[in-house]
Amino acid sequence: MRTKMVAGNWKMNKTLQEGVALATELKEAVKNPSCAVVIGTPFIHLASVAELLKGSPIKVAAENCADKEKGAYTGEVSAAMVKSTGAEYVILGHSERRAYYHEDYAILREKVLLALENGLKPIFCIGEVKEEREAGKQNEVVKAQLEGSVFNLSAEEWKNITLAYEPVWAIGTGLTATPEQAQEMHAYLRSLVAEKYGKEAADNTTILYGGSCNEKNAAELFANPDVDGGLIGGAALVAEKFLAIIAAR
Ligand code: 13P
Repeated sequence: MRTKMVAGNWKMNKTLQEGVALATELKEAVKNPSCAVVIGTPFIHLASVAELLKGSPIKVAAENCADKEKGAYTGEVSAAMVKSTGAEYVILGHSERRAYYHEDYAILREKVLLALENGLKPIFCIGEVKEEREAGKQNEVVKAQLEGSVFNLSAEEWKNITLAYEPVWAIGTGLTATPEQAQEMHAYLRSLVAEKYGKEAADNTTILYGGSCNEKNAAELFANPDVDGGLIGGAALVAEKFLAIIAAR
């Protein structure tokens, strides 16, 4: 059985103190969750939050890592540095990184490889923009994203990948994919994984939905057989909401 998961992506929100306070609140409340729980925090929070969550079932993710191993790359944070904080996961391929920081397939391929080499588990995000959905091109788009950055991995490496389907038109817009749209896409993604790595690998791949997933619509989305959980933005910033989403999984 594949892992069910609720993961938060704090994005560029919360000071260190605010982040530690939220992580503390979550730690108190999440003792024996029925799914894997991950929080993705800004780099500067990682070491403090990972330390705080030692012994807690909640795991920590970075929201990015560099596409270079180490050296003269001012301002960058390597996969090895992320790993050294105690974080276990890294969110890669988020549409905001693709759109605002020009992360293309090749850059993301490097990031994924470096994350894996350093023992981090990538949560790899894919998803189409509104115009692509309107043109009926969503399947083409996500297929190209997978082929461009992660289908080069070996079957062994693939075991460490979590996918997150995040239609860009649903992120931060309050416009959620319908449960039918999510299920249809997740089933398609699973079929692509099956073609590439076989049915067993596909059955074991965790595929999260992200994009205005909140405490009100989570249960309905998670009720679909191929929706294994959520990658949560805005609603992950408020303990009560994030806890309600975990409870819905
Ligand atoms: P929202 O939940 O705020 O729409 O963000 C989703 C997201 O981008 C998670 O990575």
